[in-house]
Amino acid sequence: MKVLLTGGAGYLGSTLARHLLERGHYVRVLDRLIFGDESISALFSNPRFQFVKGDIRHVEDITSAMKDVDAVIDLAAIVGVPACERNGDASIETNYWATRLLAQVAKSNGVRRFLFASTCSVYGESEGMTVTESSPTQPLSLYAKTKLESEQALLGVPNGFEPVVMRLSTLCGPSFRMRFDLVLNVMTATAYFDHEVRVFGGNQWRPLLDVRDASRAFSMILEADSGLVSHSIINVGSDDHNITIGHLGELVAKQLGDVKLTWAPNRDDSRSYRVDFGKIHEIGFDTQLSFVKSIRGVKELLQDGVVTDYKDLKYNNSGWVIPSMPA
Ligand SMILES: NC(=O)c1ccc[n+]([C@@H]2O[C@H](COP(=O)([O-])OP(=O)(O)OC[C@H]3O[C@@H](n4cnc5c(N)ncnc54)[C@H](O)[C@@H]3O)[C@@H](O)[C@H]2O)c1
Repeated sequence: MKVLLTGGAGYLGSTLARHLLERGHYVRVLDRLIFGDESISALFSNPRFQFVKGDIRHVEDITSAMKDVDAVIDLAAIVGVPACERNGDASIETNYWATRLLAQVAKSNGVRRFLFASTCSVYGESEGMTVTESSPTQPLSLYAKTKLESEQALLGVPNGFEPVVMRLSTLCGPSFRMRFDLVLNVMTATAYFDHEVRVFGGNQWRPLLDVRDASRAFSMILEADSGLVSHSIINVGSDDHNITIGHLGELVAKQLGDVKLTWAPNRDDSRSYRVDFGKIHEIGFDTQLSFVKSIRGVKELLQDGVVTDYKDLKYNNSGWVIPSMPA
C-alpha cells in the first residue's frame, strides 16, 4: 500500500515508518519537523520512502501529499498535556481542525482507510473500573479534548470513508526520535544518569505499550479487512500492560540496580485509568515486548551514547513554543 504518514518524524512515526517499509509498503511522510529530521534522514535513500516537509494545517501541503495514496495514518499533533497547555491555539488548529481537513482531502481523493492516533487519556479517571471503548470518556486536558473531538468528527464522516480511531496506551521504549517526557523512558534515564527514580503519587494506573509493538498494531489495522475495523474505536495496548506508576518505578529501579527510589505527592496529573484491550486482542494483536524489554531498550540506547543529556529540549515536547496560524 502507499501510505501517507503524517507526523512520521516523531517518536512513534519514525519507528512506524521503518516498520511499514519492512512490511513492503510505500511510505510518504508529511511532517513540519518541529524536532528536526535526524530521526528519518537515514530513510531518504530508500526508494519506497518519500519525505514531504509541510504542515497539516495548510490545505496546499496536504493536497499535494495526498496524491496517489491508498491510506492515511495521521500522527501529526501537538502531543502531551503540558505541550498543549502551552500552545493552546496551535493545538486546537493541529489536533482538531487539521485532522478534519485531512479527512476531507482524503475523502475527496478517494482515500478510504484513515487511521487516527488518539489516546487512552480520553478516559481521564476510571475510578477503579476497567474501561472499554464504549465506557464514558472524561478528558481532563486540552490534549485529550482535541483528540476526542477529532474522533467524533472522523467517525461522523459518511459513506466511502473508513476511519479507525486508535486509542493508544502511553508509549515507551527506544525510538529514532527519543522522548524523555514519557514515564518509563524518563524513569529509565534518571535511574541511569542520576541513580534515582522519582515516583509522583504511585497508585495511578496507566496502560503502557512499547513503541515497536504500537507500530505492529498500526500495520495490523492498516492491513485488516474493512468490515473488521472501519468506523470503530480500538484501544491499543494489552490487558497485562496496565500498571501503577509505583510498580513501574520499582521495576525500573530493579532493572537498573544501584538506584534510589523516591516518592513524592502527585500534584499535577490526576489521570488514572485501567483499560480493557479485549477488542484488539480479538482482532489478533498481542504485545511482544515486556516492560523489562522496553526498559532494557532505553538503557541500551543510553549506554550506546546516543543520548547524552536526556533533559535536552529536543527530547521533551513541553518546552517548545509552536506558533499558531496567522489570522
Ligand atoms: N507517545 C505517546 O505516548 C502517545 C500516546 C497516545 C497517543 N499518541 C499519539 O501518537 C501520535 C504521535 O505521537 P509521538 O509521541 O510520536 O509525538 P511526537 O511529538 O514525537 O511527534 C509528532 C510529530 O508531528 C509533527 N507535527 C506536529 N505538528 C505538525 C503539523 N502541523 N504538520 C506536520 N507535522 C506536524 C512533529 O514535527 C513531530 O514530528 C500523536 O498523534 C499522539 O497524540 C502518542
